[in-house]
Amino acid sequence: MEESFDKIAVIDFGSQFAHLLANRIRRLKVYSEILPSDVSIEQLRAYKGIIISGGPASVNAPSAPTLDPRIYDLGIPILGVCYGHQLTMKLLGGEVQKGVVGEYGLTKFEVIKKVGILKNLKLQTYQVYASHFDTVSKLPSGFSVIGSTPDDSFSATANLAKNIYTVQFHPEVTHTECGLKILDTFVELTRAKRDWSIEAFINQEIASIIEKVGDKKVFLFISGGVDSSVAYMLLVKALGEERIYAMYVDTGFMRQGETEEIQQFLRQAGVKNLHVYDAKEAYFKALKDVYDPEQKRKIIGDKFLEIQRQVASELKLNSDEWILGQGTIYPDTIESGGTKNADKIKTHHNRVPEIEALIRQGKIIEPLKELYKDEVRSVGEKLGLPDKMVHRHPFPGPGLAVRCLCLEEPFPDPEAEQVEKAIKQEWSQEQDLQPVVLPIRSVGVQGDERTYRHPLLINPIFKHEWNYLREISPKITNRFKSVNRVILLVATKNSEKVESFSVTPGYLTKERILKLQKADKLVMNFIEQEDFENKVWQCPTVLLPISINSKGQESIVLRPVSSTEAMTANFTELDFEKVRELGKEILAIPGISAVFYDLTNKPPGTIEWE
Ligand code: XMP
Repeated sequence: MEESFDKIAVIDFGSQFAHLLANRIRRLKVYSEILPSDVSIEQLRAYKGIIISGGPASVNAPSAPTLDPRIYDLGIPILGVCYGHQLTMKLLGGEVQKGVVGEYGLTKFEVIKKVGILKNLKLQTYQVYASHFDTVSKLPSGFSVIGSTPDDSFSATANLAKNIYTVQFHPEVTHTECGLKILDTFVELTRAKRDWSIEAFINQEIASIIEKVGDKKVFLFISGGVDSSVAYMLLVKALGEERIYAMYVDTGFMRQGETEEIQQFLRQAGVKNLHVYDAKEAYFKALKDVYDPEQKRKIIGDKFLEIQRQVASELKLNSDEWILGQGTIYPDTIESGGTKNADKIKTHHNRVPEIEALIRQGKIIEPLKELYKDEVRSVGEKLGLPDKMVHRHPFPGPGLAVRCLCLEEPFPDPEAEQVEKAIKQEWSQEQDLQPVVLPIRSVGVQGDERTYRHPLLINPIFKHEWNYLREISPKITNRFKSVNRVILLVATKNSEKVESFSVTPGYLTKERILKLQKADKLVMNFIEQEDFENKVWQCPTVLLPISINSKGQESIVLRPVSSTEAMTANFTELDFEKVRELGKEILAIPGISAVFYDLTNKPPGTIEWE
């Protein structure tokens, strides 16, 4: 029988960073589990330590999420972070008030007492990352201040007798210098055994798959991406290939030649019974006349389930004998608003309502749902998947459908003129940016919330000066609320400038996807040939219904990003001369009038445009 790990619970109050707490604890070699805020006291008894996460709410709001206060009497070490800090203070008799200035971003944290979670730090100041408006104004009895910042004199507190600690800043983000040390000391205080590793995870997961699936069989969608392939290999290890029906759905939104390539990869990895289902016609039909991104995602997710049901009935798969397997990883769950207190950024295809219903009924198995991409890749390597497959760029479940922007009619920004004028005025000293707010929108994320706003196109003379572009892009998105992306002109057909533009209405058609596939192929070849694969974490190619210096044509956006966990990302700065050459090649595709380069980090822009 598999020996179980000592575990630390992370109670999730909806911060985009809650998952990072769990990830950091695993890095410290302790198993961590994310639990909803309504977790029962009985359930919590099984944990060696409890971390209460941050979250977007205010503890004083009438509907603020809360905890059963008996948690503080369990005798288990507790660490409250941000919202968790304020909630702990409030529930134990302290006070939390609206702050005067709040703290957003980096600040200086001074260690006042070298005790509890701070005992391994020095009596000095450290840079920490904070993001809050409310502040604690009175401590509950039994607590003392152990650290402070210039704007918050109760930045870190401790009740040493009860082993309860709280911090107003975020120890889980890399910008907090002493963050990992604080978490490491907390782990030390919990006395949890440090026995978590990728190998131990694999063994534990295999045991848990065997237990959960019982004598049933698993029906699994394989997308060809890293996540579902690794999930599949884990299931095969646990149950054997015969008990898994792996199906790859060709939605029509795959990359050029993708279906054949995936079949070949999986055959190399030893998968023999992959079933390919051609659903191209059904998808194009279902998405006819659909323009809204969330609507697209919903239809695509629902169709996946419909196909599953259809195949299940064709194959006479009895639903009592089968459960559904998925390669969901943690960022998918959090971004879909899938955790109780988080805002919905976008619906990932594996978190549509019907899937949620299956999850509630326990008819689903997602062996990677707590992991991050880097961890999933390590699991894949250990399971012997081909290198080329494990290190593939991530590709979204809905595929090119969310990279093909659809539009029924222009959607102008009422503030466009004002924004363009202000930008011209502010930056004209340095150089003419030729700003144009485009009458389309794309999805972004800001302060844990979804945005759906306009891209701003710029065409400065010194296009390739990354230092300059890196600086102005966030300045623009911070300052102008109707803009959540900045894109750079790389090439147009007949001019160096944007003389005119118009929108070209269109939904998801085969013709448009074909155009996008051609451009995407050129981009992927470029990245491979130029050996940018390590530099570029993912590079969506996006089709925009915008015609530059012409009518009835479209445009392409290149979106190379660097990231580790997909929760945050920076746009990648590639050799601009080479990018320009690529731009010219893309312009040779019929119907493409311009090529742009996305200069937006995440936040404020998500990696994908929809
Ligand atoms: P965003 O666009 O939210 O993307 O910054 C974060 C990461 O998730 C991928 N992505 C998806 N993956 N199903 C998936 O399996 C989806 O519906 C989906 N949407 C986005 C995206 O490509 C990036 O790596």
